[in-house]
Amino acid sequence: MRSASLAGVLGTWVTGDGPLYRRLAAALTRSIERGQLAAGERLPPERSLAKALAVSRTTVVKAFGLLREGGLVESRQGSATTVRGAAASGRWNRSSSEQMTTLFGRGGRRDAAREHDPIDLSLAPTAPLPMVEEELRALVDVDLSALTARPGYSPAGLGALRRAVAERLVAAGVPTTAEEVIVTTGAQQAFSLLAALYLRPRDLVAVEEPTHPGALDVFRAAGVELHAIPTDDDGLRVDLLEKLAAARPPRLVYVIPTFSTPAGTVLSVERRHRLARLAARYLIPVVEDAAPADLALDAIAALPPVAHFGTEGPVLLVGSMSKLFWPGLRVGWVRAPRPVIAQLVRLKATADLGTPLLDQMLATRLLARWKEAQVARRAQYRPGRDHLTAALAAVLPSWRWRVPGGGFTLWVQLPHGDARPFAAVAARQGVTVAPGPLFSANEEQTDRLLLEYTLEPRILDEAVDRLARAWATYEATLEVT
Ligand SMILES: Cc1ncc(COP(=O)(O)O)c(C=O)c1O
Repeated sequence: MRSASLAGVLGTWVTGDGPLYRRLAAALTRSIERGQLAAGERLPPERSLAKALAVSRTTVVKAFGLLREGGLVESRQGSATTVRGAAASGRWNRSSSEQMTTLFGRGGRRDAAREHDPIDLSLAPTAPLPMVEEELRALVDVDLSALTARPGYSPAGLGALRRAVAERLVAAGVPTTAEEVIVTTGAQQAFSLLAALYLRPRDLVAVEEPTHPGALDVFRAAGVELHAIPTDDDGLRVDLLEKLAAARPPRLVYVIPTFSTPAGTVLSVERRHRLARLAARYLIPVVEDAAPADLALDAIAALPPVAHFGTEGPVLLVGSMSKLFWPGLRVGWVRAPRPVIAQLVRLKATADLGTPLLDQMLATRLLARWKEAQVARRAQYRPGRDHLTAALAAVLPSWRWRVPGGGFTLWVQLPHGDARPFAAVAARQGVTVAPGPLFSANEEQTDRLLLEYTLEPRILDEAVDRLARAWATYEATLEVT
C-alpha cells in the first residue's frame, strides 16, 4: 500500500495518549484487525510513511518494531514489512467510513472547555438548536392515544410528518403530496435505500467532485464504479455529465445542488434545468441531496430544487432534519413518484420496519418551526463563517478559499503539501480537520481541507492559532525533504 493511502486509512491516528510510536502502532493494529490491511499486504517503506504522516523515521521504525513483536507483521533483512496473520479477516471495506468514524468518534470536543482540549473542525455532528429540547419536553405532555392506538410499525412514516414534509416541499416550489414522501432514518438511510433500489455491483454512478463522504460510503458498499464529475463556482459541470451520458449513461447521479458539502457551491438555475432535462432524456435517476439547502447565510433568494424542473425525469429529492435541527434526530425523507415510494417502503420495511415514531413526532413539531430554525442557524453560522475566514486570512495568508453563501463548511486550498499528513500534524496541535481525499471519489483533492465554522468565535480563534502552529511545523518538514 502506498504511504498516502495508508495515511488515509489511519485517519486521525495521532489523537490519544502515550508516545507517538505507540499511538501509531495502535492505529496500525486496529487497521490490521479490521482487515483494512490484509494479510500479505506490504507496508510502505519507513522513510516514505514517515513523510506521509509528518513524523520522524524513528517513530515509524519503533511502531513497526512493536507490530513485529506482536507477530502482526514480519520483515526480512532488506525487504519490505508485510502484514501477517489470520487477524486480517477482510470484513471491513477500505472505504472512508472508518475515517468518518475516526473523525466523529475521536476527533476532539466541540466545546474545548479546557485550554488543552482538542478542537474538532472536521465534519462532526452539529449541536442541536435549543428548540429541540423545548419540543422534546413539550412532547411529554402530549396525548399519545392517537399514536398508540395504531400499529407501531409504519415503514412509510408517520402521516403527520409526511404531510409536514410535503407542505415544506410545496413551499419550496415542488408540488408534493404526503403519499410521495417516505420518512427515513436520516438522509444516510435514504441513500442506502435508493442504492438498494437502483444499483447493482459495477453499475456506473456519477458524483460531484468533491462530495459528501457519507454518500460515497454507500455507493462504495454497493460495489459500483464511481465517476467523478468536476465542479466549479456554479456547482456540478453538467456539460461534462452530458458528455458522459452520451458515451455511457450512468445508472444514477448524486448531486448536492445547494450549499454542497464540502465546497458550499450552488448549482446555477440554468444547470438545474439541464440536469432535469438530462434525467428525463436518458431516464437516469438523479438523487438530489437537499440536506444543507436551508442553511443560507446571506440574503439571497433560494433557488428552486432540481425536482422543481424535473417533472418528466426521475429526480429523487432527499431531505433531512440534521443540518437545521440536530443530526441526533436521525430523521430524513425521500420525495419521489408514488410507484418509487412503494418500492422504497418495501425496502425500508426490510431494513428496520420504520423510523421510531416518537422521533418522528418530535420532527413533526420541529418542522412547524422551520423558519425560526433557519433564522437561528443563520445567526449562529454567519458570524462563525466570517470569523473563521477573517482569522485565517490574518495568520495563514497563503491559504485560499471561496466564501460560501451557505452551509457549514469552508473548503480550503493549501498552497503546497498534502492535507493528510498536515491533518496529522494539526491533530498533534489539538485541532482535527478533515483532509480533502475524504470527499473525493478517487481519493484526490489532496491539497484541500474541510474546516467547519459551526463553533463559537472564541473556540474558532483558538483553533486557528493551533492551525497556524501546525502549518509552521508541517511546512518545516516540507523544506527538509
Ligand atoms: C450533503 C449532506 N447530506 C447528508 C448528510 C447527512 O444527513 P443525515 O444526518 O440526515 O443522515 C450530510 C451530513 O453532513 C451532508 O453534509
